[in-house]
Amino acid sequence: MSQNSVGNPYGHFDDQNREYVVTRPDTPLPWLNYLGQDEFFGLCTNTAGGYTFWKDAKLRRLTRYRYNNVPYDLGGRYLYVNDGGSVWNPGWKPVKAKTDAYECRHGLGYSVISSTKDGLSVSQTMFVPPGENLELWKVTVKNSSSKAKSVKVFSYQEFCFFEALNDMTNYQRTWSIGEVEVEGGAIYHKTEYRERRNHYTLFGCTGPVTGFDTSRDAFVGIHEGLHEAKVPFAGKASNSKAFGWNPIGSHEVTLNLKPGEETTYTYILAYVDHDLVRFRGEKFTAPFVINKAVGMDVMKKYSAPGAVDAAFDRLKAYWDQNLGNFQVASPDPHANRMANIWNQYQCMATFNMSRSASMYETGIGRGMGFRDSNQDLLGFVHMIPGRARERILDIAATQLSDGTCYHQYQPLTKKGNADVGGDFYDDHLWLVLSTVSYIKESGDRSILDAPCGFADKTYASNKDKETLLHHLETSIAYTMTKRGPHGLPLIGHADWNDCLNLNCFSTEPNESFQTAGDVKDSKAESVMIAGLFLYAARQMTELYKALGRSADAARIDAHRKTMLGILESVAWDGEWYTRAYDAEGKVIGSKTNEEGKIFIESQGWAVLGGAGADGGPFGGRARQALESVHKHLYTKNGVVLQQPAYSTYNKAYGEVTSYPPGVKENAGIFSHNNTWIHLGWCLLGEGDRALEYYHSICPSTKEAQIDTYRSEPYVYAQMTAGKDAPCFGEAKNSWLTGTAAWTFVVVSQGIFGIQPDFAGLRVDPCIPKGWKGFEVTRKFRGATYHITVTNPNGVSKGVKSVTVDGKAVAGNILPVLASGDHAVAVVLG
Ligand code: BGC
Ligand code: NOJ
Repeated sequence: MSQNSVGNPYGHFDDQNREYVVTRPDTPLPWLNYLGQDEFFGLCTNTAGGYTFWKDAKLRRLTRYRYNNVPYDLGGRYLYVNDGGSVWNPGWKPVKAKTDAYECRHGLGYSVISSTKDGLSVSQTMFVPPGENLELWKVTVKNSSSKAKSVKVFSYQEFCFFEALNDMTNYQRTWSIGEVEVEGGAIYHKTEYRERRNHYTLFGCTGPVTGFDTSRDAFVGIHEGLHEAKVPFAGKASNSKAFGWNPIGSHEVTLNLKPGEETTYTYILAYVDHDLVRFRGEKFTAPFVINKAVGMDVMKKYSAPGAVDAAFDRLKAYWDQNLGNFQVASPDPHANRMANIWNQYQCMATFNMSRSASMYETGIGRGMGFRDSNQDLLGFVHMIPGRARERILDIAATQLSDGTCYHQYQPLTKKGNADVGGDFYDDHLWLVLSTVSYIKESGDRSILDAPCGFADKTYASNKDKETLLHHLETSIAYTMTKRGPHGLPLIGHADWNDCLNLNCFSTEPNESFQTAGDVKDSKAESVMIAGLFLYAARQMTELYKALGRSADAARIDAHRKTMLGILESVAWDGEWYTRAYDAEGKVIGSKTNEEGKIFIESQGWAVLGGAGADGGPFGGRARQALESVHKHLYTKNGVVLQQPAYSTYNKAYGEVTSYPPGVKENAGIFSHNNTWIHLGWCLLGEGDRALEYYHSICPSTKEAQIDTYRSEPYVYAQMTAGKDAPCFGEAKNSWLTGTAAWTFVVVSQGIFGIQPDFAGLRVDPCIPKGWKGFEVTRKFRGATYHITVTNPNGVSKGVKSVTVDGKAVAGNILPVLASGDHAVAVVLG
């Protein structure tokens, strides 16, 4: 099912083409897209801003970007057009000349920016071909006027000195190291190649190049800004050769176009690494002259007619295949659009970027987060299970032998570090969720036996390493062992809520809340970790059952029961579950507190962990907890994190009290944790509530209030300002959030109810009573299931009958089928 959105003043969805069409460059915030899917990545805004890197935005940055610039987004893949003295950019910035038409189409792995001015149209299609370490810009220039035109197009990109932190801080060195070479249409950025680097950046152009610039000072000027850069306004390249200072890449292309004539050529930004790509001969071909063989091959490849279009077709096919694993047609256009296109696409971005590089993450701060990457996998695993497998093993290898984890690792080295802290006592449990979701999707149990060491141990060979299963056992054991006075898990520096810092007691304004303080001998406890543990332990139990290891299943289930008993006895506050106990043993998230009486995370995880479930000794609590969320925390823009917001800083609670009321963890709407409540409603069979809540944070629904919302309407943002903030409804920190993966779990597994399981594909939808049905196509372990769900009795949940290829199936688990197409009919009632 595809349709276009009614849109907003800045653009609209084009579902047919799987694009978001920005129709005005002056969006309420820069609206971002990502280029790249494997190892070479770019950030690209609707005004062509952004940068590129290979694998790691900190350690291998190829082009430069100045964060928190004025304006916010400045610097990127710029083309300056000089048409008879009139200078403009197809992406509007940096000159910001008024064009007659502007459009930016953000698609899956590509962006197309097109503008027209004075009868000249320029279109720039930017993308990274699958499997390649380069970015292409296909540029089409058309003279639609009635006069012949002689036009000059100047490209502009600033090279980065590869290590991004050094690049932006160490000018006493970096301004003396810059080196380039130019050969024909190819500009080679080779800084530090003479010493320890074995790689360079190539910026080439296949068009009619009539000049170049490689010195920023020559191209832009010393006292000028990018909007008044000297060369494009002069209409003549200066052929500058950078020596030190700031190397850039700029080509002057001269086009003589008859009326109606159109021409196309390509720019190539390639990362050439001689450790990866073998080249003929030596590193240098003459003193100071680098071996350009590989670069020349790349130039040749993409100068050939049709090569760029073929690469673009490969990208399209790549996304057809990824998205083809899950497609839905339902009565809800928002759920269709997000689940079929944008939500899955965002899951690729979070899988690749974790929390490293976005408009809010500078690429030098955070890397691959332990808890983040495990969760990101939940929304990615159905697309490319093989990559998920590799990722799980990489993450697990950053766990320490005591069960704790490095909180993040660098993608280039895959080595964990403690830069953003450690001892977050939820981290290890997420590994159980990611591993189990991988096995349920792929059926590949061999991952459990894969050798996987601990980060603090050394091993003579792979066979000495522990297995992944050993890591999972270590994780379960850690939480069971490290418990506090109430029997609940200790919290450490923080649990999922990085800002609930119960052991930091920080009074030093310059220190990080996450690294400050000492967790040793602390007794601060987390109810949320208890809930998460219940969930993880149940998954481990099911896993052992699926493996036929009933004694192990029973052993883990006994732990679960112990924890459940504790949670129900010490964490029920009367109408909801409490949140934590502080270092002095005082409760947090209780009606007895002045502020922060009720928190979202513990309601979500207690319910998902099976606490308060109907039929059990504390039946009814789960429903009451969620009703309390509805009463105290729900708003039309989503569920706020807690209430009442903290009004003053309290060092016993840490960063959560540091934020002004209504933002971030202090009662902001933190989309990520909203999803656990959505799943809770699904568990309770409340399909109307589930969809209402799903809509409350769904970006596609925000087009109607876009000037308040401000962020991209096609991807989730980490946070929307809560009701205590003056800017209620304003979204921030889009793209890199666990919301992407979890919302895909909500919509695909909770609402549409297509749940991979060990034995097959479980179908257990939870939909609004008014829905007559929906259809899902799901590829699972090689077979394609065409699932038609009908709802003749207007229920929300409950499967009455299932047929597979015309034959009745008992229960609601679709068996693993032979490859090919299979028709599944599911009747609810
Ligand atoms: C933010 C958290 C984030 C943490 C990462 C805090 O400032 O509020 O959302 O997880 O930093 O270290
Ligand atoms: C963002 C962090 O990346 C994530 O790890 C954390 O759980 C949330 N913030 C909540 O604090």
